[in-house]
Amino acid sequence: MSDIPKTRRRTKSREWFARALESLVEGVNSPSRGRAVYSLGPIVIERGTGSHVFDVDWNEYIDFMMAFGALIHGHAHPAIVDTVAQAMAEGSHFAACTAPEVEAAERFRRLVPTAERVRFTNTGSEATMLALRLARAHTGRTKFVKFEGQYHGWYDPYLLNAHPHPPEMLGPAESPARIPDSLGIPEGVFADVIVAPWNDVAILERVFREQGGEIAAAITEPVMANLGCIPPRAGYLERLRELTQQSGALLIFDEVVTGFRYAPGGLQQKFGIVPDLSTFGKALGAGFPVGAVAGPSAILNRLEWHDSMVLHYGTFNGHRLTMKVVSTNLDLLMANDAAAYKRLNELGDAAIHGLRDVFRRRKVAAIVQGFGPMFQIYFTERKAIHDYRDYCAHVDTRKYSYFIHLLLERGIYMTPSNGLHWIISTAHKPSDIDQLFLVADEACAALG
Ligand SMILES: Cc1ncc(COP(=O)(O)O)c(C=O)c1O
Repeated sequence: MSDIPKTRRRTKSREWFARALESLVEGVNSPSRGRAVYSLGPIVIERGTGSHVFDVDWNEYIDFMMAFGALIHGHAHPAIVDTVAQAMAEGSHFAACTAPEVEAAERFRRLVPTAERVRFTNTGSEATMLALRLARAHTGRTKFVKFEGQYHGWYDPYLLNAHPHPPEMLGPAESPARIPDSLGIPEGVFADVIVAPWNDVAILERVFREQGGEIAAAITEPVMANLGCIPPRAGYLERLRELTQQSGALLIFDEVVTGFRYAPGGLQQKFGIVPDLSTFGKALGAGFPVGAVAGPSAILNRLEWHDSMVLHYGTFNGHRLTMKVVSTNLDLLMANDAAAYKRLNELGDAAIHGLRDVFRRRKVAAIVQGFGPMFQIYFTERKAIHDYRDYCAHVDTRKYSYFIHLLLERGIYMTPSNGLHWIISTAHKPSDIDQLFLVADEACAALG
């Protein structure tokens, strides 16, 4: 592969990044944003409006990353801007009972049928952390099932086998090698984690046959969004629901990525599966930091204050300004009979089909996987990527990164990490998608 064409001026981005390296580790605040991902160094973003962002050199891009999915309405949506301005003028946060948190919770419950109760957190990681604590307290058990390749935030016990590795490191599917994603976590933390491959019913059945009575919960995304976009095989989630129910374990759906994106009630609603607990984040806050755990009162009420309670504190929980944004966001999503969802799904499907056409026409061995407003491109000879092991063995992530750098040079903003996914927001227009096809076509030609 030849060098990436440097058609765009990045003088100021480079200057800012050099400055960033003086004060911040790797120049950023999360390893998914730095030089490890962007081979030319990250582009320093200055401003966003609707579906477009501008960098500090005033290069314009159509944004398909949308802050890892947080920006369901794109950048600086006027209704969100108004809400924030007004809420800020009134006082951003009181850490007290406020009307905005009640209004946000009421809306949340109207949209998510399984949310008899909701508890707001500040991030998705806090939500998944709390969900596991609740599940363990509710069942009186400690073990939980964590699927290979899935990421549920950076809470210690979840940090096993989320990052991709060479296939020879993975061990047998029936008994995966246990590979921590981080240093600094005592081995004992993982003692109660059962790691299993995702999308494999036979192994799932064995796990529950052998250990079902000890399992507090199984946590899964309904569509695996870490490592791109990997839908469940037909019947897989249904079987997981049956097995958890039969063994007295809870099913936790981690809808931090999928929640409020596919349907008002999340993918659980679209798939018709009722989990015991669900976690939300990202799109819930339309760009503001928030998470949530939702479920039946019988489980959530364990958070009530008494001697044997589940502890969950947080200075910023139910942050007043953020709660106001949540309400505005959910109102926007539900306006005109939830027209936003029709649009998100239609635009997303159009993008997926159009990109498939581009790769077919250009004879590039790539697939576009997913449906509606979330999808990923895999450079692979395979017809589909079904799980972590497929991803590790059959996806050319370096080619993807190179492809994305070609797009970045041509005005499409997307992370070069193949483990993330493309996001359609309500701010995207058909003309953005058409432009994507043109640019993708040009990038395919440049791939050689
Ligand atoms: C499925 C899933 N769960 C949880 C999290 C953690 O959310 P946050 O980054 O808000 O802590 C993420 C973040 O990417 C995620 O993808």
